[in-house]
Amino acid sequence: MKYYAPKGLNDITPDDMPYWHAVESEVRATMPVYGYEEIRTPMMEKTEVFARGVGEETDVVEKEMYTFDDKGGRSMTLRPENTASVVRAYLEHKYYGKEELSKWYYLGPMFRYEAPQKGRSRQFHQYGAEAIGSNDPALDAEMINLATDILTSLGLNEVGLSLNSIGCPDDREEYIEELVEYLNPFKEELCEDCQARLETNPLRILDCKNQACSSIVEDGPEITDYLCSECRDHFKNVKKYLDQLNLSYTMDPNLVRGLDYYTKTVFEVFSSDLGAQDALVGGGRYDGLVELFGGDPTPAVGFAGGIERLVLLLEELEGVELKKRELDVYLATLDRETKRRGLKLVQRLRNSGFKTEIDYLEKSLQGQLGYADRYGADVTAILGPQELSEDEITLRDMETGEQTLVPLSDFTEKVKNLLESE
Ligand code: HAM
Repeated sequence: MKYYAPKGLNDITPDDMPYWHAVESEVRATMPVYGYEEIRTPMMEKTEVFARGVGEETDVVEKEMYTFDDKGGRSMTLRPENTASVVRAYLEHKYYGKEELSKWYYLGPMFRYEAPQKGRSRQFHQYGAEAIGSNDPALDAEMINLATDILTSLGLNEVGLSLNSIGCPDDREEYIEELVEYLNPFKEELCEDCQARLETNPLRILDCKNQACSSIVEDGPEITDYLCSECRDHFKNVKKYLDQLNLSYTMDPNLVRGLDYYTKTVFEVFSSDLGAQDALVGGGRYDGLVELFGGDPTPAVGFAGGIERLVLLLEELEGVELKKRELDVYLATLDRETKRRGLKLVQRLRNSGFKTEIDYLEKSLQGQLGYADRYGADVTAILGPQELSEDEITLRDMETGEQTLVPLSDFTEKVKNLLESE
């Protein structure tokens, strides 16, 4: 073996693919039902889109971006997430003038230079939804409903929802002051990262996984006590709508999310099916991002889910119905002449939508029948020189073993009948 995929960048092989297809089909089926249309943005953007959008002082921007100068000397970055790109596209194509509420979804690879581990890779895939143009708390609830709907439809049973509100920038300023005042006396006890965060991004101390940090934070001030009346009211209504939709949640005062654009509602969805720790989905409101990118103040809310994590869960749970399509027809041929004619017949079957295979490995008839069996063919057609000379072909029903000789002119019709009687 000379070459391996780069660390943290994984192949998705044909063995994995049925799970990926199950997730992708579910996403593509469910999003439009909620009114979301697909958008595809480029895999890379000018670095400032993420630096400004996600926030200079976030882990994603500080440590995890794949940034390089292109041949024209411009700083480019492989997208670490898609919300900033979607907002950039919303403004670039002036959707604010075309529709009152833009509801978009996406599927695709993202890149973060993180330490790879189970469910965490450097190239990973997200599906996500963004709704730009409404401040309605019912839309926050819809987002959460959509996010959980996709997971439960895929067969996850225990989907847990963590919820918080981090208010507007003014609320946060006041809260951060209090938080820093509370944390300062404990500075030496905080982990090294959090000591730095105390200066740069104190909110991030709230969701530090370090035991010492989290036990200090536990007795500290909670952001929901610092919400202005508008934010408090908004959050109260989000919760009411969630109740209305029978979506249960757990309040998590330390849920702040790792990206700077969030305002008001933030949420994460977990699966307790396998005691999984990591969030399958994360999202929230980002009412300031469109304005930050030069647009009019425009409220928005969204979420994204990680497909790798979800696939891992689905594989272990065996809860998802996989659609691995088996062979409909295998056409066995015995020499060059029958192969030539056989290819034509295969083409005809494929044009009619039947999954059909022919031998490319110079196998004996026995070998070809074995192959047909292994790949689950429902019907095997055998075209030998004898049959060909009489313009006939043998059809074998692989389930019953019954064989019939049919005229070549009726071939497609007879195969169709056999397959339909299965
Ligand atoms: P995020 O929480 O950074 O949010 O990522 C969302 C999801 O992507 C995570 O919950 C996780 O499932 C998956 N994910 C993140 N990083 C990795 C990784 N290195 N390997 C595997 N999976 C990963 C966002 O990206 C926001 N843009 C979500 C959003 C949309 N908020 C508003 N709109």
